[in-house]
Amino acid sequence: MPNLVAVIMAAGKGTRMQSKLPKVMHSLAGKPLIEHVLDVANQVGIERPLVIVGHGREVVAARIQERAEIVVQTEQLGTGHAVMQVLPYLEGAQTVLVLSGDQPLLKPESLQALIKMHEDQEACATVLTACMDQPFGYGRILKDGEHLVRIVEEKDATPDERQVKEINTGTYCFRGSALKDALTKITLQNAQGEYYLTEVFDVFLKQGERMLTYCTGDSHEALGINSRSQLAEAEGIFRERILERWMADGVTIVDPASTFIDAEVELAQDVTILPFTRLMGNTRINEDAVIGPQTSLENCNVGCASEVTYTVAKNADIGDRCHVGPFAYLRPGTSLDANVKVGDFVEIKNSKIEEGAKVPHLSYIGDAHVGKSANIGAGTITCNYDGVNKHPTKIGDYTFIGSNTNLVAPVEIGDHAVTGAGSTITKNVPAKALAVERSQQVIREHWHREKINRGQK
Ligand code: UD1
Ligand code: CA
Repeated sequence: MPNLVAVIMAAGKGTRMQSKLPKVMHSLAGKPLIEHVLDVANQVGIERPLVIVGHGREVVAARIQERAEIVVQTEQLGTGHAVMQVLPYLEGAQTVLVLSGDQPLLKPESLQALIKMHEDQEACATVLTACMDQPFGYGRILKDGEHLVRIVEEKDATPDERQVKEINTGTYCFRGSALKDALTKITLQNAQGEYYLTEVFDVFLKQGERMLTYCTGDSHEALGINSRSQLAEAEGIFRERILERWMADGVTIVDPASTFIDAEVELAQDVTILPFTRLMGNTRINEDAVIGPQTSLENCNVGCASEVTYTVAKNADIGDRCHVGPFAYLRPGTSLDANVKVGDFVEIKNSKIEEGAKVPHLSYIGDAHVGKSANIGAGTITCNYDGVNKHPTKIGDYTFIGSNTNLVAPVEIGDHAVTGAGSTITKNVPAKALAVERSQQVIREHWHREKINRGQK
């Protein structure tokens, strides 16, 4: 049994969220609240915390079971009751760290400082607190000098107690043995008729135990997400932190106010992000790439020095020195090698485009393989769907596909082959051949005079 055991409370329904999704599964910067808390725990060296789940436990457990020990709280009778569920797992733990699954802005530095203070000063309990101008809704910290005396919930507080600005963040360190004992002594005697975890401090006080507080300088860390409005507030704060971090690491963000970057995104030095751009999921942007304006990338990889402008892309891989957009739509399974150009009003899905190929204007390329340096004329369409099945198209290296070609799949165009503009290609074209499929052009030399002779203008 390690000396330090961490417990994350995440069983509550989150009634105030008005949602069918359990509260801790709501997303902040592209990942569920609970995962932010798990990340912070990992950052202070806690490998597999105990997570107490209840409401929507299948959804929560499915998401986090690889990185946490799941403990079920069948009925949600309060935060004290939640921690009672993990007592069997605390045997021999010297320090128990308790975290709330709805507190995603907590910083690892603060957690580290809390644990250090608790252990250095051999306290029975140490609470992470914050000072807030608007402490409404939080438990208030009542002290005698340096020492914590009691935590009183908003609903149980007297008007005087409500004036207190120092609040309980819902993050604590406990001496394991004392916590175990105190949890057997808490009651339901409070305004909400719940087992409050905070009532253990009343027990400790009677026992004359040493209780301390560690106050974080950044009150944002305390933000507990109970409503959609608090979720939006947290999103704003977290977003700012992400942007600051990337700018410090050498990324140019022209307009932070209109730039949205998820927590897991990675950016290399000298990347430039232009306004109205959103980078989501596991997107990675490599050196010197310029993204935006008005671009939305989800789980995409962008190579060095590529330019992606006015583009929407999802699960796509863009090589080095590519030009994508304006107005390109790259769908899942798109893979562009280096030096590829994808121009305006082009949609690509599940296709590989080899080095130096160009799809400059008004095309749909689906389930295709486009060879090296191929040139796909404006308006070219891979007709990949027959109404029942999808079929592949293979376009060889150095091909020239004339404008407005329909490639009816399955079909293959050999290397160096050419198709005439406006052709509907239904049969394979051999390498180096020309394929033209269109009726002969008819010329009537004196058409204007014929019209006049017929009495037309
Ligand atoms: C709690 C604290 C309050 C503190 C605030 C900080 C108590 C009694 N109050 O209040 O002092 O200022 O957090 O955000 O602890 N949970 C369970 N099982 C339950 C009930 C809750 O796992 O039976 C979980 C919730 O999912 C949530 C966390 O515990 O992640 C906190 O519960 P919540 O109901 O949000 O507590 P608050 O009323 O915010
Ligand atoms: Ca809360």
